[in-house]
Amino acid sequence: MKSHPFRKAFVARFALTITIGAAVTVAARTAEAADAAAGRALALEHCVKCHGKDGKGDGPAVAAEHLSPAPGDWTDKEDMSEHPDVFLRNMIEQGGKAMDKSERMPAFGKKLTPAQVDDLIAYIRSFSQ
Ligand code: HEC
Repeated sequence: MKSHPFRKAFVARFALTITIGAAVTVAARTAEAADAAAGRALALEHCVKCHGKDGKGDGPAVAAEHLSPAPGDWTDKEDMSEHPDVFLRNMIEQGGKAMDKSERMPAFGKKLTPAQVDDLIAYIRSFSQ
């Protein structure tokens, strides 16, 4: 059977609509999944004593516990652009020691869920946008 040209166009448009719909859904879900405000609350609870409340890496523990190297400055756009998300995730989940970095950076992989780590990464990125 020869398919009618109108039907072909209809099928093509239908497929396109589905594709766009799926892409929009995925984008919306990603934006929804990472919540910088929730990340900030987590950071104020778990990270602030070293990373500081403004993300500059100058929390009270840096001087008190002689952290050297000190944590990085999350507001430094250039520095932060060198760190892909997977590096931030690995540092947070596995800690500094596993990453050949300062062992003073604790591992939070057992304390925090992957979604909470997403929120923290969104929060960390919010300083350098
Ligand atoms: C006891 C202090 C301490 C706490 C608490 C801490 N960190 Fe860190 N963190 C460090 C130190 C020190 C480094 C620097 C490691 C290096 O460069 O060798 C670091 C590095 C990092 C890095 C790599 C980029 C950078 O800033 O240098 C990330 C990302 C990070 N920490 C996230 C977190 C998050 C998120 C939390 C809370 C869930 C947290 N840290 C809690 C001490 C701490």
